[in-house]
Amino acid sequence: MMSVRFDVLTLFPGIFDSFLSESVLKSAIDRKLVAVRLYNIRDWATDKHHKVDDTPYGGGPGMLLKVDRVVPCVEDVMRETATALPDKPRLLMFTPQGRRFNQRWAEELAAGGQEGQGGQGQRLVLLCGRYEGFDERVADILQPEEISVGDYVLNGGEVAAMAVIEAVMRLVPGVLGDEDSNRFDSFSSGNRLLDCAQYTRPREYRGLEVPGVLTNGNHAEIERWRNENSLERTRQKRQDLLLHTYENER
Ligand code: ADE
Repeated sequence: MMSVRFDVLTLFPGIFDSFLSESVLKSAIDRKLVAVRLYNIRDWATDKHHKVDDTPYGGGPGMLLKVDRVVPCVEDVMRETATALPDKPRLLMFTPQGRRFNQRWAEELAAGGQEGQGGQGQRLVLLCGRYEGFDERVADILQPEEISVGDYVLNGGEVAAMAVIEAVMRLVPGVLGDEDSNRFDSFSSGNRLLDCAQYTRPREYRGLEVPGVLTNGNHAEIERWRNENSLERTRQKRQDLLLHTYENER
């Protein structure tokens, strides 16, 4: 059975409480398709005040996460993960300076856990920053994959890590009810178009009617309408997808 394990390193593990205990993710964890472990970086602060951050050399606003707290924390977790499971863990560091996360990257992260690739499960170590970021030597020493969820600044990597966990876990076979239900998702390698418009009852609401073709039962016609609608919506809403200016394309 394929599975993915996430080891999340954060100063605020409580942020993940309800995220892990609701809906699809909870069910996937209960069925052992996904595992999420939380580690508090502060537990690696050995001094009396459990100091994890400090002011930048040369001045400037904000605080930086200290290299001598973060590096031992990551190394311990990587080592523990390495003995617990056979696959080599991948280290992702959350920062707005990272490479932009996208569906293709999510597919690649999930695929590492495929049995066919020789592993029992993919292991992803997610390092969440806070404050103004990390001392530069954290990246120098650990050589993580630096990852951003978009060109905006969050208070820390936690919300970004949740986005990555959710995008990856739903690609693990068995997590969603229908095995095929994510294969044709927008942005996946099998599909570069947006989803078509969809409707459910009532057939008419405030004068707006469901397109007749969807209610006439002709499956070939419905299929054709959906394909055309996908293309038209993509042209209107996300023309960049058609022009192949998809960012971070590899
Ligand atoms: N930390 C702060 N902002 C972030 C972003 N946009 N992506 C990933 N991590 C972040």
